[in-house]
Amino acid sequence: MATRLNLARILLLAGIAVGLLSWRESVEHIGNPDFRVPGYTLAPSRSWYHVFREVCGDVAKMAVFLLLFFGRSSWRTPVAWWIGLILMVGYYAPFWIGEPFLPDLAAPNRTASIIHMAMATLSLLALVVASTIRAHRGGVAMTDIFSPVDLLGHHLPNRIFMSAMTRTRAGENGVPTDLMRGYYVQRSSAGLIVTECTRVSDQAHGIIRCPGIHRDDQVAGWRKVTEAVHNAGGRIVCQIWHCGRVAHPDMRGGEPPVAPSAIPVEGDFFLPRGRVDFPIPRTLAENEIAPIVESFAGATRNAHAAGFDGVELHGANGYLQDQFLEDGSNQRTDSYGGSVANRGRLMIETAEVMIAAWDADHVGVRLSPASTLYGMRDSDKRATFGHVIAALDALRPAYLCLLEPNAKDAKTEQIKDVLQTFRPMVSVPLIGNTGFDKAKANEAIGAGRADAIAFGVPFIANADLPERMRRDAPLNTPHKDTFYGEGPEGYTDYPMLPS
Ligand SMILES: Cc1cc2nc3c(=O)[nH]c(=O)nc-3n(C[C@H](O)[C@H](O)[C@H](O)COP(=O)(O)O)c2cc1C
Repeated sequence: MATRLNLARILLLAGIAVGLLSWRESVEHIGNPDFRVPGYTLAPSRSWYHVFREVCGDVAKMAVFLLLFFGRSSWRTPVAWWIGLILMVGYYAPFWIGEPFLPDLAAPNRTASIIHMAMATLSLLALVVASTIRAHRGGVAMTDIFSPVDLLGHHLPNRIFMSAMTRTRAGENGVPTDLMRGYYVQRSSAGLIVTECTRVSDQAHGIIRCPGIHRDDQVAGWRKVTEAVHNAGGRIVCQIWHCGRVAHPDMRGGEPPVAPSAIPVEGDFFLPRGRVDFPIPRTLAENEIAPIVESFAGATRNAHAAGFDGVELHGANGYLQDQFLEDGSNQRTDSYGGSVANRGRLMIETAEVMIAAWDADHVGVRLSPASTLYGMRDSDKRATFGHVIAALDALRPAYLCLLEPNAKDAKTEQIKDVLQTFRPMVSVPLIGNTGFDKAKANEAIGAGRADAIAFGVPFIANADLPERMRRDAPLNTPHKDTFYGEGPEGYTDYPMLPS
């Protein structure tokens, strides 16, 4: 993520400039026995202590400013704070303690001496305050959910992203509707919108009234959505997806769903005629995998053509790529099964072709290392997801989005804190999701565990979520019975704040 100028950074740049000037002054000072600081008489002989104080003091000051400016937020605060403290003790304390301990320093002018010490105290206080201030208290040097961020070639106005959410309002043949356009436009104040999961082929179809992006009429429908969101000042990414085994033949013209292995999803599936058991999926032959990978490349090209700002690979929540990755759903013995490297192959190959179809700066990937949705399980989630996260990070995608466990996952899960666990392995922008509110989001961003937070349910009921968070306004209550409904009810009719 490129570093942008804001007020805090301009102040820090000013600090660096002052540091550079005082450094120059120090160098002249040490080399010149006749140098005089106004108000002080300096003995011509220079003690080692004096040299140390002049050089190290300025270096320390510079280091603090540079750390605050460029440092990763997770460690810049404590490091800058400690350097500030050492600076105070090592550099300024002698001024406060006074003349008796400084044989080479005399202050004949008391007023100048007091001014000098007051300035030293003030500048030190400013450093300590700037380095310890917390984002959620409106700090100047730290990032929070309202800080802009550079992503997908855009300067996004905030870090409050809208998470992908299926809302089952697409039309015949998976063509986006005018109603969907209105829904996304309402939410265009999000730093970034991620669309509902969007199928990459007919084979990928697994949710009633979900949109697609593999046909021209679907691309044309999405183009109307992206244009309207852009006109409203927003940015929108298309989440592309293959359902794998999470589907039913009844909604696919009798075609059974496909999967890495013939292991059905636990639980039941919602159809218009009621709830039914998940069927046993058909095992994909090895030579059927390349066309699936290629369908993600095609969907990426279509998303680009439809005017999206990027694409997100839905590698989470128990869908096809996740089914291949986790050994509870993958019992293959070919090059897509067995070892972690083989199980992760589909995920990596898919991300690679998506990047080749557009570029790395416009492709994000979403993973749910702690999820148990649709009966997902793995014998060693930490190792499995560690492998795939490292391999994806090496492709330098636009971002990774990682889901924290929800309340249900947390009861059984091996990984309690996903962001904390995987942040050290991720060098690209990291988006956190699941169970965040404003305070938790600010805490995660301020501590450097995430660069942005995707909100799901809060965006269903609050199209103007960023403004509500800014004003600390109350949030509308979401109505679960209309999450997957039809029509505008519970979709575009939640009240907005008066502007
Ligand atoms: C109605 C609904 C539909 C969802 N559909 C999708 C989806 O299409 N793709 C996806 O990756 N996640 C989907 N999710 C998961 C959300 O993106 C998000 O991970 C989840 O709601 C947790 O975030 P939250 O606690 O902020 O709501 C859906 C969630 C809900 C409530």
